[in-house]
Amino acid sequence: MKVTVSVIKADIGSLVGHHRVFEECKRTAETMLQKAKKRKLIRDFHVTSCGDDLELIMTHTKGVDHAEIHRLAWNVFNASAKVSKKYKLYAAGQDILSETFSGNVKGLGPGVAEIEFEERPSEPLLIFMADKTEPGAWNYFLYKVFADPFNTAGLVIDPAMHQGFVFEVLDLKKGRSVKLASPEELYDLLALIGQPGRFVIKSVERKDGLPAAVASTQRLSLIAGRYVGKDDPVCIVRAQHGLPAVGEVLEPFANPWYVAGWMRGSHHGPLMPCSVEKAKPTRFDGPPRVMCLGFQLREGMLIGPADMFDDPAFDLARQKANEMADVMRRHGPFEPHRLGEGEMEYTTLPEVLKKLEKRFR
Ligand code: F6R
Ligand code: MG
Ligand code: MG
Repeated sequence: MKVTVSVIKADIGSLVGHHRVFEECKRTAETMLQKAKKRKLIRDFHVTSCGDDLELIMTHTKGVDHAEIHRLAWNVFNASAKVSKKYKLYAAGQDILSETFSGNVKGLGPGVAEIEFEERPSEPLLIFMADKTEPGAWNYFLYKVFADPFNTAGLVIDPAMHQGFVFEVLDLKKGRSVKLASPEELYDLLALIGQPGRFVIKSVERKDGLPAAVASTQRLSLIAGRYVGKDDPVCIVRAQHGLPAVGEVLEPFANPWYVAGWMRGSHHGPLMPCSVEKAKPTRFDGPPRVMCLGFQLREGMLIGPADMFDDPAFDLARQKANEMADVMRRHGPFEPHRLGEGEMEYTTLPEVLKKLEKRFR
């Protein structure tokens, strides 16, 4: 059967600054999605949170960008934001940028990753969710998984993967996209995705067209034209049997890399892989977190979840991330901890600089 997996998330306010989603907000979401499941709008769901982001993982058979599914998510976020407001939680309703809903949550605040595929005889699925960073944070990860044979042994060994993958890269500034094939266009691919603030990998498919991964690409600041928090992305990856193995998909996180986000969405910091329990950033509002839930699909039902980074094998990565965080923090307000000029445009820094303008001689 053809299944659609929709992961839709929003920051609707949180407990103690931008720290974590309030339990009652999650329960509100669960109750509403349970009702939607009962009336067969969705087949199954799982509600979770990563830091201050409420994450709705839903399966259904309606395809991507379906108005009813988006409306459901929109209603859930509005109801949960209401709970946030009731308790005067911080930044209540932050990612609800519009009063009205017009059929799709894209551009209204929430982040969206959706994928439709024919469910295989066994369908292992990995859902990545990050906090205090932006969609471009996945570029390095998706490159390693689908294009780097030093990460993914299957690219060399498995005949089903040996032809490589096609990456769709979105230019966030110009709102256009390009498809690049790996390995033959690897250097072109890297030329773009090495600039993750502008070019983000939107999806990956196998050369035979099999959908392999899809990521959220919303950048709220580009939508709103001002700082509205980072976009804390999500990503769906299918695994095994002619696609990278679960362990190959997780492997890039063993060596954390620097991403943009962290405090005030204005700093570079390491992306720390952690369990759901530990996805509650505190230090300097971070460092940026990534968690991963694994599911097996059974006729669109979500069997699981398994908390994939809840493994001592990632302890060293967490330690490395803490050390990398220290190195950056030492720079205080200096680059490269602080983001470059272009990225700072969408923060509150220009207001400060404007005030100084008339004093320049
Ligand atoms: C990061 C984030 C936080 C806030 C920071 C200041 O994405 O949301 O780091 O930017 O806590 O928040 P305000 O300006 O609301 O006090
Ligand atoms: Mg927040
Ligand atoms: Mg967040």
